[in-house]
Amino acid sequence: MTLMPPLSTTDTPLLQVDGLTKRYGSRIGCLDVSFDLFPGEVLGIVGESGSGKSTLLSCLAGHLTPDLGRVAYDGRDTLTMAETERRRLSRTDWAYVHQNPRDGLRMGVSAGGNVGERLMAVGARHYGGIRDKASDWLGRVEIAADRIDDRPTAFSGGMQQRLQIARNLVTGPRLVFMDEPTGGLDVSVQARLLDLLRGLVRDLGLSVIIVTHDLAVVRLLAHRLMVMKGGRVVEQGLTDQVLDDPQHAYTQLLVSSVLQV
Ligand SMILES: Nc1ncnc2c1ncn2[C@@H]1O[C@H](COP(=O)(O)OP(=O)(O)O)[C@@H](O)[C@H]1O
Ligand SMILES: [Mg+2]
Repeated sequence: MTLMPPLSTTDTPLLQVDGLTKRYGSRIGCLDVSFDLFPGEVLGIVGESGSGKSTLLSCLAGHLTPDLGRVAYDGRDTLTMAETERRRLSRTDWAYVHQNPRDGLRMGVSAGGNVGERLMAVGARHYGGIRDKASDWLGRVEIAADRIDDRPTAFSGGMQQRLQIARNLVTGPRLVFMDEPTGGLDVSVQARLLDLLRGLVRDLGLSVIIVTHDLAVVRLLAHRLMVMKGGRVVEQGLTDQVLDDPQHAYTQLLVSSVLQV
């Protein structure tokens, strides 16, 4: 069942990645990765632990510097642009949702503050407006209004992850990087979070690159799928095609091991 609506790809790519390579000494992080991401498109990246998914995502988001290759965002080369410009993009156009919400939240700051802080970073100054927008976003991620002054330490894992998503999306990014966003959560909590994410991605027309080892997540969220092994992309294509008719032996193994669970 295809749950994401089909996407017209007549636009120009939002992100163009060409020959991206990152080594850690003699060990391969990711090797010669190339793809285009179109506006409104969700790309899933799957592969076993150590296959290079996080390395690739970190290189794309500018957290790691690749050894080789090119990344262009909206036609601009993000690897050669000035650091100030790249920082500006990370505040305005990009968002990064970490697997562990603690890495993406400020645990000593209230829920409302976590969301409001991001608005202030892009220039919002009016306290009432910031609080209203923060409270609106808490509602969108299903956090009750009376929790706005609570710290994330008082929240469950699922709530923390939803707060991290609100903090990331409040500034209206165009491109969202997610590394195993449902990773550490109970299955029932995962399902609700996925549903919420799907709604937000569709309503906001976000472009998303989502790393996961869970094929159910990509089946629900991703238009297109990239399968990695040993740092290389071994297969990519439309999600349904790749999952229903995997061509590469490794993808066949991934798909069949899930079916046997
Ligand atoms: N900071 C690092 N130093 C050395 N090797 C690393 C580092 N981070 C990742 N690696 C290695 O790079 C490869 C890819 O890792 P990673 O990108 O974390 O994969 P994944 O996210 O798919 O689990 C693995 O062999 C891993 O051991
Ligand atoms: Mg990883």
